[in-house]
Amino acid sequence: MSLETSNYIGGTHGTGTGPEQTVIDPSTGQTVWTYTADDESTVAAAISAARAAFPEWSGATPAERSAALYALHTELEAMAEDLAQAETSQTGKPIRLAREFDVPGSVDNVAFFAGAARHLPGHATAEYSGDHTSSIRREAIGVVGSISPWNYPLQMAVWKILPAIAAGNTIVLKPAEVTPLTTLMLAQACDRTGMPAGVVNIVNGPGPLTGEAIVSSPHIAMTSFTGSTTVGRHIAGLAAVNGTRLHLELGGKAPFVVFDDADLDAAIHGAVAASLINTGQDCTAATRAYVHRSRFDDFVSGVAELMASVRLGVPTDPDTDQGPLVSFRQRDKVAAMVERAVQAGARALTGGRAPGGDLATGAYYEPTLIVDAEQKSEIVQDEVFGPVLAALPFDSDDEALELANDTPFGLAASAWTTNVFRAQEAARRISAGTVWINDHIPIISEMPHGGMKASGYGKDMSTYSFEEYTQVKHVMADLTGATAKEWHRTIFGLR
Ligand code: NAI
Ligand code: MG
Repeated sequence: MSLETSNYIGGTHGTGTGPEQTVIDPSTGQTVWTYTADDESTVAAAISAARAAFPEWSGATPAERSAALYALHTELEAMAEDLAQAETSQTGKPIRLAREFDVPGSVDNVAFFAGAARHLPGHATAEYSGDHTSSIRREAIGVVGSISPWNYPLQMAVWKILPAIAAGNTIVLKPAEVTPLTTLMLAQACDRTGMPAGVVNIVNGPGPLTGEAIVSSPHIAMTSFTGSTTVGRHIAGLAAVNGTRLHLELGGKAPFVVFDDADLDAAIHGAVAASLINTGQDCTAATRAYVHRSRFDDFVSGVAELMASVRLGVPTDPDTDQGPLVSFRQRDKVAAMVERAVQAGARALTGGRAPGGDLATGAYYEPTLIVDAEQKSEIVQDEVFGPVLAALPFDSDDEALELANDTPFGLAASAWTTNVFRAQEAARRISAGTVWINDHIPIISEMPHGGMKASGYGKDMSTYSFEEYTQVKHVMADLTGATAKEWHRTIFGLR
């Protein structure tokens, strides 16, 4: 990967003056790239550039903004293979996933927002009072400061940038310090397609340095963040100091509920795919399978067998099903959580360890199925963000839905049943931003993604995201021309 610059500010590619950072290929531990972080000075320059660009960009017609986004879409499509390779080199995700999920999903999202830029929703202008014409304006907010995570670096950057700029805002975004490459390539694409300078600005560096410099700035109008609940709440505290608007997409701990009438083979396939996607580093991944006791043994033996057939290998090999975790730090975090679960009495029916042999030099961890864990235990309650599924039995529908809701999180969930009433009841009662029926993971640009409870608030994707990235103004114009308006009686009485 040969990038010469590590930031993009006011339409110019440059470098920071902060501490040196390394990007590691977690399948080998080798350094892929080094860069110097952006500190307060370059972050301030990026925010200034975004402020300077705001009046013209927010004043452009929707069609003009749409044209800029379509040009970006075309450029990204042409860069698809390069983006997939870079994504794989910095995250360790299998190239098949990068090619078939990360990159096309991101490119489609850009196309969606190019169209949606011309479709701001709102109420009809009308004479609601009888004496006034009321109309609604949906206005851009200003400079958005965004921080994105390392699990789907390109896709998360797109989810943050596109709705913000489609709605007329300008943005300063910091990707995760371990995965800056594809976001910088996105900046190159913005530059090559003639996106006006300062509309999209990218800075890089560690959260406490570069991230906090963005979030603490009094000149940003809104913060949007995707990452851990702990950091999200810390950021909410910083945003509160300036009263900055917030959009938080935090952790998840998705339940996967298998009722006694479920198609068990479909549930087994679904559970393995949905718990192992992106090596489990997915905030909507299936993490807790609640299975009716009558089907429990068949479910866990099917899942264990299918997990054991998953091919771990080098991420660049198109035959690889599962690569390493994003970093050795993340692998060690996952391993420690599984170890603590086993110490507390749970069992790993398959996996539960890092593989040896050729893969021992990478941040690999085997697909892991945990049974005999307590509902209240850490492995069932907390985000693991690794290829680990815990399975627990239940006896009644009520119990299953109570257990599904029994964590602090509420991002996603799925219900597996062939009974339409059960499916509807589960969809109604589970507190989560997405509930799938007989599937788990698919997302689509037209539909919103976002959490409830400790998983945060605010929607990504879909036109719902315009509710986050615009502010509503009511304009109420008198129609009577009268000096003494009807309602003045409340002040002057009948005089
Ligand atoms: P993190 O929440 O620290 O990282 C996400 C982003 O926040 C990165 O860009 C990071 O640089 C930034 N950040 C960190 N500290 C910051 C600060 N003080 N101010 C501003 N920005 C800051 O996540 P981390 O530590 O890399 O992973 C830990 C756990 O977080 C994972 O094991 C997983 O459970 C969870 N996570 C959840 C994600 C999700 O999409 N829900 C994504 C990434 C991590
Ligand atoms: Mg990395």
